[in-house]
Amino acid sequence: YGVYKVISPKGHINPNIQKSNSKVVNVINIEDIADTLALCRCWRSKTFPKCDGSHAQHNQCTGDNVGPVLIKRNAA
Ligand code: FES
Repeated sequence: YGVYKVISPKGHINPNIQKSNSKVVNVINIEDIADTLALCRCWRSKTFPKCDGSHAQHNQCTGDNVGPVLIKRNAA
């Protein structure tokens, strides 16, 4: 799996996203959600906070079972 990081230093859940910030906070305006938004919960997405499917590799490498949270807008 190349450079895939299974174990983070000090047991951090976040291996490499915005590490220079003391806390990672993302804001998405609800008005910008067209239909469905998949939010990353594995901290491996290259489009964080949006899921890019990287959880599949994480799960395969670690035996974990994480996936995104889906925000869905009701059909009008
Ligand atoms: Fe992290 Fe999908 S990439 S949950």
